[in-house]
Amino acid sequence: MPKPVKNSAWVYSDVVKKHFFNPQNVLFEEDEKWLKDVDGEGEVGSPACGDVMRIWIKVDQKKDRIKDMRWQTFGCASAIGSTSMLSEMVLEKGGMSIEKALKITPQDILKRLHGLPQNKIHCSVLGDQALQAAIFDYFAKSGQQARITNSKNTGNEIVCECFGVSKRELEMLVKSGFDTFEKVKAKSGAGGGCGNCATNIKKLIKEMKKA
Ligand code: FES
Repeated sequence: MPKPVKNSAWVYSDVVKKHFFNPQNVLFEEDEKWLKDVDGEGEVGSPACGDVMRIWIKVDQKKDRIKDMRWQTFGCASAIGSTSMLSEMVLEKGGMSIEKALKITPQDILKRLHGLPQNKIHCSVLGDQALQAAIFDYFAKSGQQARITNSKNTGNEIVCECFGVSKRELEMLVKSGFDTFEKVKAKSGAGGGCGNCATNIKKLIKEMKKA
């Protein structure tokens, strides 16, 4: 019988395990009624790449705050654990302001999870990108299009749908020495799914290296 593999790169933290076995704020079938008065919904990922994430939000418009949130995913343990944690971060202390929620990065989620196995880190970006998509949907539905443009100008738009990698993350990768398409793909997964984003990513890497 083969011996169990001892490899820290495969180990999930206790926090990830806690959220995976008891995920918070998931939308179950019996919660259909909850969906009736949602203010925004977002979906990212690609079934071709294996992970799809959906997030729904309810907003306290007066306070410009997310007052409730639910999510669903076809993703793995890491995607489930990281989105459960994200939902806790968004809803704790009475709900996060919209502006603060738009600034959540995968690194913020990873920190609260006490890390993820290296090859599972890309799963943590699905939640924050789906949340951003849900907030943009809320902006569009509530006549606040200008806020979409302003937020996009912060550089957080997605450059790879399959792996949920944003322009800001790409910039960070290039600055950290992952300055070729192959290096970016190996580190973040970006470009390694359907491949539709490859040309744009190569162009962006070139521009970022010149800047
Ligand atoms: S959009 Fe599919 S690999 Fe980037």
